[in-house]
Amino acid sequence: MDKPIIAPSILAADFANLQQEVEMLNESDADWIHVDIMDGIFVPNISFGIPVTEAINAHAKKPLDVHLMIEKPENYVEAFHKAGAASISVHYEACPHLHRNLQQIKNLGCKAGVAINPHTNVQLLEDVIRDIDIVCLMSVNPGFGGQKFIENTYAKVRQLKKIIAGAGAHTLIEIDGGVNQQNAKQLLDAGADILVAGSFVFKSSDPKDTITNLKNV
Ligand code: DX5
Ligand code: ZN
Repeated sequence: MDKPIIAPSILAADFANLQQEVEMLNESDADWIHVDIMDGIFVPNISFGIPVTEAINAHAKKPLDVHLMIEKPENYVEAFHKAGAASISVHYEACPHLHRNLQQIKNLGCKAGVAINPHTNVQLLEDVIRDIDIVCLMSVNPGFGGQKFIENTYAKVRQLKKIIAGAGAHTLIEIDGGVNQQNAKQLLDAGADILVAGSFVFKSSDPKDTITNLKNV
């Protein structure tokens, strides 16, 4: 089995020492840097926005994987692309014109992702799956780091994998929320390609080591 893509979530980093945290990720086995944007409307929390993303990008040697937990993402996609995003995920639940949103992201040259909340059925993505580079399966309710992993995610990964294979698509499956050393293996066995981990990485005593362990789970 291929090794997973590891995308530590900068949301759990020490914001007063962002440069150091990004440099730690540069030196680690992390593949991408997951950047969580929250608007206080789509989700009940506010994280940070475009200038902080630019500041992260100024030091990052790894691609920025931007997760937009915001309403009307189409108004901000271009700004996040300019701020350094390599991939941009919008929420299914925030996009009545999802196909258009995906084309907008791709036209900028970014990988196009769709994030879905725990209650959203993966089947809803079937008609657009060939246009999606990454499906970000939320394994917690978006808005906060450090929450408990929702077990139903395994079944969703398996179901999504079938949809992707059935369509002959190359979509990657990303898992976001509550990922740790205990559930990582089972997620990969179910078909996950990308693991996002916030607290588990940054709150550990040796984040670099934790990243290496996740990569080799
Ligand atoms: C949740 C965010 C996640 C979060 C993951 O709203 O989308 O990316 O940072 O954090 P942990 O790994 O702590 O659940
Ligand atoms: Zn996220």
